[in-house]
Amino acid sequence: MRVAITGAARGTGRLLAEAFAERGARVFLSARDPVAAGRVADAISQRGPGRAVAFRCDLAAPDSVRGFAAAVADRTSHLDVLINNGAAYIEGDDLADASDDTIESVLAAGGTGTVLLTKHLLPLLRASSRPDVVNMISTCGEVGHRRSDAHPAFYAAKHAHAGLAEILSYRLRPEGIRVISLFPPDFVQDGPRRAESDLTAQSVIDCVVFAVGQPRDCFIREFHFEQVRSLNL
Ligand SMILES: NC(=O)c1ccc[n+]([C@@H]2O[C@H](COP(=O)([O-])OP(=O)(O)OC[C@H]3O[C@@H](n4cnc5c(N)ncnc54)[C@H](OP(=O)(O)O)[C@@H]3O)[C@@H](O)[C@H]2O)c1
Repeated sequence: MRVAITGAARGTGRLLAEAFAERGARVFLSARDPVAAGRVADAISQRGPGRAVAFRCDLAAPDSVRGFAAAVADRTSHLDVLINNGAAYIEGDDLADASDDTIESVLAAGGTGTVLLTKHLLPLLRASSRPDVVNMISTCGEVGHRRSDAHPAFYAAKHAHAGLAEILSYRLRPEGIRVISLFPPDFVQDGPRRAESDLTAQSVIDCVVFAVGQPRDCFIREFHFEQVRSLNL
């Protein structure tokens, strides 16, 4: 299986890259910092059984996005899974809580960058016999969601990503390309996996691996999660 993933030098993106490599995948992983991405790719390749190569991709910079897509196309004639994972998180109740530059880059990455990367990798996905696009969105991309402390620009970026996923899942379905989206609440990288505990990254990753592993008749379009009930609400 050949997998491309953004924002994979740390956090959930890294864990996703590792999870696919553990299952033997060849992973094209990218991050804003190519050195950090290279370290992750080396560790993955040493551990095996899958292999990973690292690339630079700043989703907020269209040339960098096109460069990543072209570099992947230089190394493979098809791609089975694209994981749109990278997205900068910013907090704040008020629009004024983030600078104009920060707002611009958050929307550029989650909106334009994600659309462009999907556009430029689509020919490789079309060449696969089992193509999937996985979108790491957020509850902030759900209509009516208000519970997060995220900045309004983060909500806007996640709604852009959700809008892209929604229409692509319908339009690409006839070609057999599944567009699978996850809308998790805040989750922890590590922690107990009990009913009263926060969602863990491992559980989110298990959902991705499960959906991608299904036979082609089974198109799981979205994962939504019930948050732990807070007594303050
Ligand atoms: N963790 C959560 O609670 C949570 C909840 C719901 C949804 N999500 C979503 O799940 C995905 C993974 O997040 P995470 O858990 O790993 O949290 P995170 O700590 O917020 O990580 C964000 C990731 O996106 C990357 N990124 C940020 N801006 C980027 C850009 N312009 N171009 C490329 N990559 C960029 C970061 O890379 P750098 O190392 O370069 O900063 C990092 O790898 C994100 O889409 C996030 O919004 C996370």
